[in-house]
Amino acid sequence: MSQEESKIRAAEAALKFIEDDAIVGVGTGSTVNHLIDAIARKRLRIDAAVSSSEESTRRLEQHGINVTNLNSAGQLTVYIDGADESDRHLRLIKGGGGALTREKIIAAASRKFICIVDESKLVNVLGAFPLPLEVIPMARSYVARRMVALGGRPQWRADFITDNGNEILDVHNLDITDPVALEAEINQISGVVTVGLFARRAADVLLIGSDRGVQTLRRDDDA
Ligand code: A5P
Repeated sequence: MSQEESKIRAAEAALKFIEDDAIVGVGTGSTVNHLIDAIARKRLRIDAAVSSSEESTRRLEQHGINVTNLNSAGQLTVYIDGADESDRHLRLIKGGGGALTREKIIAAASRKFICIVDESKLVNVLGAFPLPLEVIPMARSYVARRMVALGGRPQWRADFITDNGNEILDVHNLDITDPVALEAEINQISGVVTVGLFARRAADVLLIGSDRGVQTLRRDDDA
């Protein structure tokens, strides 16, 4: 089974978390694209979607799904999104697609965060995937120096501007043994808009697609 088929399995398993007439938070990326297609294919009766990126908005609208604004939607019952890495406590690295800021806002504003991945994303310790930071453009070099001081190797994602008009640093080589502490530390740096660590607000449910089916991990199951 291909990695793409594993993503489709995880995406389809998330459909059962969507209630009739709900306003659904929708993330960004190739796994979420399968989710959007599945919502349309299975003709789920949703009221609207709150989208985390222009890319997802386009795909939702192409399927005739109504996209609404988070300010008018209020608290969402469910947010469904992919991840670049997850540990077994459902703490995530996100932002490979550059949509991390809107993703973090929607995750915070949702009662339940369902994360959909193929099994290659599950890791013991976060950090093999470079950590994305969305930064205010004038702060890029300053933030990069601060990352070097933390032992990281920042790389500017050249020719990429986020939906919010900012830039991305991908930070390699960080020691992420305490993701909650590192998220708080990086959040304090002036010029950082969002750090792609989702540890303080981790996922609630992780659906892992593979050739063996879909495994479900829940944060409440934490030892
Ligand atoms: C987008 O900014 C990311 O946070 C995505 O959720 C993440 O990159 C997962 O994307 P894929 O589903 O394409 O792997």
